[in-house]
Amino acid sequence: MSSPAGGSVFADRVLNDWLSSVGLGIEYSRAEANTLYFVDEDGEEVPVLDHVCGFGSLIFGHHHPDITAHAKATLDQQIPVYVPLSRQSHANDIAAVLNAILWREIQGGDGDYAAIFANSGAEAVEICVKHAELERRARIAKLTEEVGRNAQKAREAVGAGRATVAENPYIQLGREGGETERLEQLLAEAGRRNAELIAKGPVHLALENAFHGKLVASVQLTQNPHWRLPFTSLASSTRFLRADRPEAMKAAVEELRMNLLDVLVDDGVVTVVERDFPVIGAFFVEPVQGANGMRPLTEAAAREIRAVCDAVGCPLIVDEIHSGMGRTGAFFAGSHMGLRGDYYTLAKSIGGGIAKNAVALFHRDRFRPEFEVMHSSTFAKDGFSASIALKVLEMLEADDGRAYRVAAERGERLKEVLTTVASDYPDVVDAVHGIGLMLALEFKDQTRAASEPLREKAASGMLGYCIAGLVLREHRIRVLPVGPAGNSVRFEPSIYLTDADIARTENALRDVCTILRAQDGDRLTP
Ligand code: F0G
Repeated sequence: MSSPAGGSVFADRVLNDWLSSVGLGIEYSRAEANTLYFVDEDGEEVPVLDHVCGFGSLIFGHHHPDITAHAKATLDQQIPVYVPLSRQSHANDIAAVLNAILWREIQGGDGDYAAIFANSGAEAVEICVKHAELERRARIAKLTEEVGRNAQKAREAVGAGRATVAENPYIQLGREGGETERLEQLLAEAGRRNAELIAKGPVHLALENAFHGKLVASVQLTQNPHWRLPFTSLASSTRFLRADRPEAMKAAVEELRMNLLDVLVDDGVVTVVERDFPVIGAFFVEPVQGANGMRPLTEAAAREIRAVCDAVGCPLIVDEIHSGMGRTGAFFAGSHMGLRGDYYTLAKSIGGGIAKNAVALFHRDRFRPEFEVMHSSTFAKDGFSASIALKVLEMLEADDGRAYRVAAERGERLKEVLTTVASDYPDVVDAVHGIGLMLALEFKDQTRAASEPLREKAASGMLGYCIAGLVLREHRIRVLPVGPAGNSVRFEPSIYLTDADIARTENALRDVCTILRAQDGDRLTP
């Protein structure tokens, strides 16, 4: 069969060329625990230590034998996989476990959370965007009803000659006509302005350098301008705030404030008053900002964010897609800094490394039950991924949470080593960030490096990728850059990281540091 014009590469043509150019264009053929394998030119299987682990979605590594056995058994039993609009009690089973963990780690028994399932992290975030808007619309409806009732009261008072219409700073009234005409003129103009405001979408709050996904609404919550800006016209905008600047956070909220115009009859006079309008849809927060180079929130910031949400009345949405499922040494990373959310999102490791699954949780006080019928997805909540999720949760909770303790201990061990490397090479390493098995080593900026190839790679944001290429080529270790400047390298392996793996990692990083110190830019070129 002849291939169509333009060659026969139908998928990933640009991506693959680019991966090859930085030395990452390898096709893996097998995966197990923290090891990926590829077959070299001699037909030999080459092991590669995987520190990326599916962008942190493999808390139990690639193909954990218990998860694989469970998956096989599930399929052998011919459990129903796709049966939408039927009773699917597995959804409730998962939600029950998640509620129990939430109560234990964060809520102290403060109410329960309803669950809505999705197929990916970004989808779970978008479900939260939709639900927050449903909440906001309900608040707006309540407000407009009140405004409508007050208009009616004013009409009655003016009609009965009990009230006159006062001049007001918002709407200029004509001199002609009686009090009734003046009131109708006032209500018409206030109604027009209110309708304009009501028709607008919400503004969301998120933290600087946030990452919440790349779908239509979620990409607007992801700060990276390269991914976000081409699509701003498609969805609500986001105000990005600094977690360490509580005053600026409050000032931004104040700046966003908008008011509906209402009328009140007071002492025989109809006056115009402003009513606080719910402009802000929700505040989205990652307890550890993964894509920002593994930066955990501080306890003080968590408190400030909670206070902002309480003052505004909007939901605080804790995005645990990356940090949740045990990676930081607790099931919910937010439990380390006392971050209490109104909604939560989970994804990544809930799929056990073999299924696609995600879930959004909503505090019962805020949950709008009609949402269960309004939102749906063909694949979400399917029997297979649910069965895997229950197995993963069982494994995490087993032996009184042994997996969390191992994640914390392995993470500490790896962090110790990264910190030693950083202190041995203060001229090329800036810092170590993160918690548990969610770590990053941040290299110093090389845009003014003595070596021209280094300068060029740094200026084009490619330095981190070239470091990853070298580490793969020469040390058979898979890392990837992370962070807005691409200067950091991410480490988020499974809990089965061994001391030998850590020693190999240290060796590779010392090699990178030596190259940077020697300004040996050529060695970073594939
Ligand atoms: N939220 C957070 C905090 C994430 O880290 C991610 C993905 C998402 C949402 C979106 O999830 O990819 O399943 O749609 N983070 C990846 C990363 C891409 O680089 O760690 P998704």
